[in-house]
Amino acid sequence: MTGGSGGAPASAGAPPPPSGAGKIAIRDLRLEYYSEERRASHVAVDALSLDIFANEFLCIVGPSGCGKSTLIAAIAGFLKPRSGTLTLDGRAIEKPGADRGVVFQEYALLPWKRVIDNVALGLKLRGMAREERNRIARRYLEITNLADAAQKFPHELSGGMKQRAAVARTLANEPEVMLMDEPFAAVDAQTRMTLQEELLRIWENARTTVVFVTHSVEEAVFLGTRVVVLTPGPGRVQATLDVPIARERRNWRTINADAEFVAIRDRVLDLVRNRRSAA
Ligand SMILES: Nc1ncnc2c1ncn2[C@@H]1O[C@H](COP(=O)(O)OP(=O)(O)OP(=O)(O)O)[C@@H](O)[C@H]1O
Ligand SMILES: [Mg+2]
Repeated sequence: MTGGSGGAPASAGAPPPPSGAGKIAIRDLRLEYYSEERRASHVAVDALSLDIFANEFLCIVGPSGCGKSTLIAAIAGFLKPRSGTLTLDGRAIEKPGADRGVVFQEYALLPWKRVIDNVALGLKLRGMAREERNRIARRYLEITNLADAAQKFPHELSGGMKQRAAVARTLANEPEVMLMDEPFAAVDAQTRMTLQEELLRIWENARTTVVFVTHSVEEAVFLGTRVVVLTPGPGRVQATLDVPIARERRNWRTINADAEFVAIRDRVLDLVRNRRSAA
């Protein structure tokens, strides 16, 4: 369905390459919003099937309004499927859980708490003793290059630092799956590049599964081991593309001279613009 030009392997709608059901298995998913006022439902996602595999870095792109945030909300457990199934390790996702951490576009740090206490918050809520939770928080502050900012308050941090603190807080909970909805949309271009490179390093060190939503095709191909393109709303999987680019080639100094990166990026761009979808 996605045509065959360019070197990037792609499969449209079909199950992705690794065998067996994913860590997260999504089958024929339909997600709706009900408006009391209009007494009508709006279908945000329909007939969406997708496997998300353990330890992969899956990026989801698609036009505005196609249902990306809705899909993230459903995987996080904030929104129930209208029909179809959504499972994590074979069990239906019915509510939020500590196995899934979410990083939103807004940093949502508590302004009255120091950075280290923000990062340790989830652990505190789980009843962990102060010494232990601070030890874990410090580890993730180091991974996110924020060790020196541990005792600061959020208003003393730059936008990029706040975003890293939000990532550190999610990581400190040691979720099996990190769900990220345009987490870098609000930071400047230079900081964003740094955060993207750091996120890859963090993902490598923490060995979690990442599901990352973005408007930016370039960001998706830079970060993802696989990119899923959704159709305009209601969102379905239009295509999935593997990004077989080694981790060490993924840095912004050289990536734009990498022919494979450029080919995959252009392919995804065409898909998002829908030019080859009917091929
Ligand atoms: N709380 C809500 N109530 C009703 N409809 C909603 C709600 N949130 C989203 N929608 C609708 O569901 C559809 C999907 O929205 P969603 O926010 O998932 O899109 P998106 O792909 O994340 O878009 P963007 O790229 O702009 O963030 C849109 O048509 C939107 O208007
Ligand atoms: Mg969104």
